Amino acid sequence: MKKPFVVCHMLTSLDGKIDGAFFDAPETTPASKAYGTLREHYSPQATIYGTTTMISSYADGTSPTLSLSDDTSPEKADFVNPQGKAMGNYIISLDPKGILKFSSHIIEKKGRPAAHVIEVLTEQVSTAYLSYLQKQGISYLFAGEKCLDCKLLLRKLAEQFEIKRLMIAGGGITNWSFLQDGLIDELSLVIAPVADGNTSAVSIFEQADFLPQHKPIAFRLIEAKPLDGSALWLRYGII
Ligand SMILES: NC(=O)c1ccc[n+]([C@@H]2O[C@H](COP(=O)([O-])OP(=O)(O)OC[C@H]3O[C@@H](n4cnc5c(N)ncnc54)[C@H](OP(=O)(O)O)[C@@H]3O)[C@@H](O)[C@H]2O)c1
Repeated sequence: MKKPFVVCHMLTSLDGKIDGAFFDAPETTPASKAYGTLREHYSPQATIYGTTTMISSYADGTSPTLSLSDDTSPEKADFVNPQGKAMGNYIISLDPKGILKFSSHIIEKKGRPAAHVIEVLTEQVSTAYLSYLQKQGISYLFAGEKCLDCKLLLRKLAEQFEIKRLMIAGGGITNWSFLQDGLIDELSLVIAPVADGNTSAVSIFEQADFLPQHKPIAFRLIEAKPLDGSALWLRYGII
């Protein structure tokens, strides 16, 4: 299958969490800086984020106002904004139900190149939402009926956007969805030397209720590199 090289790149606590109080500890700062710098090691053309992560860090909230007249609009087929595609750098937003709100099809984050938003939808979305996305110039791809078809998505990203190098940066449900389908080529963990004992924060990988159970997945170590501030960079391939 045609697909990009996929790396899952995450900042974690010593207890394997990707969210929670450890983020605010001063001892996490060097790891947090290294996490940003090490992104460049992989030169990704695109980064995939899950719905929760999009809401907290990239979208402009949820539940956009949809015009009723929009209901007569587009069929449920992929839409590519040629101007957005030409940018060559993308934020891929997993939004199976079509709930995210955006003020532009371009997202600019400090220290990162401007990126075109590609929404990833399932058949559950309304045509009014498609019309909303088209008005914003946001490209969208269909991948699955209710659950995301991660394999189909990667094929479409390779074929329609010519993406060769892709980063997945969670959260945990997103990361596990791609891992259990055998679609991750490398796992890159930047570990902060901090634990917070949180029992409810999200871990690197989380099995969602809507996905079938899967047996444990093993990795092989590519590299272990100590970083400033007692942080550690671990790179794993999949066995
Ligand atoms: N430390 C780091 O490097 C890092 C990086 C990124 C994020 N984070 C943290 O991760 C946390 C979010 O993690 P999360 O696991 O809760 O959320 P997530 O992976 O960001 O998103 C989960 C949601 O995405 C949708 N989704 C993901 N995979 C799907 C699939 N295969 N099929 C259908 N829908 C799918 C579902 O939306 P619906 O529920 O709408 O169906 C699901 O509830 C945040 O707290 C964020 O701060 C940390």
